[in-house]
Amino acid sequence: MLLLALETSCDETSAAVVRDGRVLSNVVASQIRLHAEYGGVVPELATREHLRNLPSVVATALRTAGVTSGQLEGVAATRGPGLPNALMIGFKAAQAMAFALGKPCLGINHHEAHLYSAWIAGDPPRACFHEFEPSIALVVSGGHTLLVQVESLLHHHLLGSTLDDAAGECFDKVAKLLGLAYPGGPEMERLASQGDPGAFSFPRPLMREAHDDFSFSGLKTAVRYFLRDHPGMLADPQAIRDLCASVQAAIVDVLTTKTIKAAVRIGARVVTASGGVACNLSLRQKLAEGCQRHGIRCRLSEKAFCTDNAAMIGILAEEKWRGKVAASQWDEEINPNWEIA
Ligand code: KG4
Ligand code: ZN
Repeated sequence: MLLLALETSCDETSAAVVRDGRVLSNVVASQIRLHAEYGGVVPELATREHLRNLPSVVATALRTAGVTSGQLEGVAATRGPGLPNALMIGFKAAQAMAFALGKPCLGINHHEAHLYSAWIAGDPPRACFHEFEPSIALVVSGGHTLLVQVESLLHHHLLGSTLDDAAGECFDKVAKLLGLAYPGGPEMERLASQGDPGAFSFPRPLMREAHDDFSFSGLKTAVRYFLRDHPGMLADPQAIRDLCASVQAAIVDVLTTKTIKAAVRIGARVVTASGGVACNLSLRQKLAEGCQRHGIRCRLSEKAFCTDNAAMIGILAEEKWRGKVAASQWDEEINPNWEIA
């Protein structure tokens, strides 16, 4: 099946073309620089940028894939969750294109797409997925921290999620306290690589609890109080590096410990990780080590597919169509609060 997929849920305008489970093109126009001066995503600016960039992003995705719109057999787009007006741009564009082409349109859940992005490889997800059932999926982004049990391709249920801040949000908010540029995750990782993770001790919230939920707001608050009690800290570049390394260690420790514990409990044969925070090298290494200790296969989303992209939307849409999920006929509405069950 030949599909065009669009993603505009937050601050990346992305279009991809997929065919038979393979990514032919994946174009991402990032708005990070635009929002950086405000220290976070400004919804109205994001909407306008999507509107401005989407036509050329789609044209480039089709050209790079070497296909014309007339050859498409369907269109998919992120339906939620996300910023309402930003979602509206991509989803309504997808519906309009599908309508004009007389082809079906499918709305995709952004987090479910992040989950399956770990399976984007040379082969389509269905070609390798059955070997690894059941699996545990960690989806860690700026908006969500999800632990999901996957029974089989397209069949999964939520084990736990964050009770307050997401892991990425914690990185971003701590970075802001440290005066670092937005988005804070990559910058904190860069500084952490030159710091001592054992320099300062920060809490590991809910790490030893029996349930699978997360909480990161207390960690952010701990850093705030720490800075209040050590006012000279921000003037010392090495202290900032050590702080980044210590906070990163706390976040990674919680994510890894809870993920591996859940995997061992359900007898998972594979652990996957995806979402923007899964770019983090320390998280990738610790997950891989934890999996190795328990004889579990670790499947990490490629970095290009960790952050928001349309390829993951297209790959999941195609699997859904193959799984006989009915495509909407152009009249569905966006769902900004669409949680996965
Ligand atoms: O998945 P994503 O691109 O967008 C959402 O759906 O939220 O994730 C963005 C988040 C941001 O919070 C960003 O700081 C974080 O992922 N992030 C990282 C790294 N790269 C991106 N966090 C830690 N280390 C990184 N290398
Ligand atoms: Zn995302």
